[in-house]
Amino acid sequence: MNNQTVLVTGGAGYIGSHACVELLQAGFKVVVVDNLTNSKPESLSRVQQITGKSLTFYQADIRDKQALTEIFAKESPSTVIHFAGLKAVGESCEQPQLYYHNNVYGTLVLTEVMTNANVKQLVFSSSATVYSESASKQYTENFPLGACNPYGRSKAMIEDILRDLSAADQIKQTESPWKIALLRYFNPIGAHQSGLIGEDPNGIPNNLMPYVAQVAIGKLPQLSVFGDDYPTRDGTGVRDYIHVVDLVKGHIKAIAALAGEKFEAGGCRAYNLGAGRGYSVLEMINAFEQVTGKTINYKISPRRTGDIAECFANPGLALKELNWKVEKNLDDMVADTWNWQTKNPHGYA
Ligand code: NAD
Ligand code: WQD
Repeated sequence: MNNQTVLVTGGAGYIGSHACVELLQAGFKVVVVDNLTNSKPESLSRVQQITGKSLTFYQADIRDKQALTEIFAKESPSTVIHFAGLKAVGESCEQPQLYYHNNVYGTLVLTEVMTNANVKQLVFSSSATVYSESASKQYTENFPLGACNPYGRSKAMIEDILRDLSAADQIKQTESPWKIALLRYFNPIGAHQSGLIGEDPNGIPNNLMPYVAQVAIGKLPQLSVFGDDYPTRDGTGVRDYIHVVDLVKGHIKAIAALAGEKFEAGGCRAYNLGAGRGYSVLEMINAFEQVTGKTINYKISPRRTGDIAECFANPGLALKELNWKVEKNLDDMVADTWNWQTKNPHGYA
């Protein structure tokens, strides 16, 4: 049991709610700040149902400096996990200001409040989208960055801001310097094994797995497979899918690392969170059919703008420095997606 309080921005969302479960089970006190713009408070009731423990919830926007300052004063967190953000790539192309305001300005406000409260341990939700397309399909943290849409650029800008904050403390040789882990997620899918929490997309899903699940349950008539002429083993796009529970366990490991030797003098370090292997769209459909016994109705459609052929993580640094690697396999990811979908055909509604 430890008495540390972790403040979780965006804790009511898909990944944040799973993180709250792991944090509570690891003995942390949990304070969630979420404006519920893309989530429902029911997710947090379910977190408490799963764990048998309670958490504290504030419905607030991270851009509201006064509200955030009051929350920090009241709750005295030692660490922040920062999930809050908008994440729809297409929407970010249509409304870039909204994305920069919410994600980048929101993080500026958060880090200002953290600085004032002298809370300088941060785990940040970054994304594999910060990398520029590379000749190598397996991405290592030192690969060139170069996101290709406003959402991805908002993540890259935040990474820059956080690196600069940390560097400034190094120059000043501050007594309590920033300790920051930038976690670059590959493709999180799946749900908690209980089937009580999972991904609840608004409207028609953008991402492959929730789309497949909604076709399987009959909510959507047909999946469009975006391109079968990529230079991959079967022509469809290859991605590194990672079970959301494995992903959030990486955050607990990151909190431990921030308190350890590697970060003793402060610093800001990036880690890939992925499995280190990729599956194609057709392989994902096939796995879904095998596990669920359902046939997925699909058609081959043109490529989606902005998609790349193939990418997967080199997760070696996370293994070495965070002592983290994935434990779940593709069947677990599919079975847990389906368990959540069948138990909650309308999400949290
Ligand atoms: P999500 O939309 O389910 O969760 C984000 C949460 O943040 C929501 O509950 C939303 O209401 C909240 N939020 C947004 N803006 C806020 C603000 N200004 N103030 C307070 N709360 C705010 O998304 P998710 O899939 O759980 O993603 C969590 C984080 O991980 C995001 O930052 C996302 O960019 C990042 N990420 C997600 C993926 C993915 O595929 N899901 C991949 C890489 C990175
Ligand atoms: C996976 C594969 C598609 C939908 C996105 C964001 C990224 C990150 C994770 C946050 C691709 C194909 C998809 C469909 C399909 N989010 N596909 N039909 O594009 O790797 O990453 O989510 O940081 O920023 O870009 O994930 O699930 O959308 O696509 O054929 O209806 O499935 O072409 O090959 P992606 P995805």
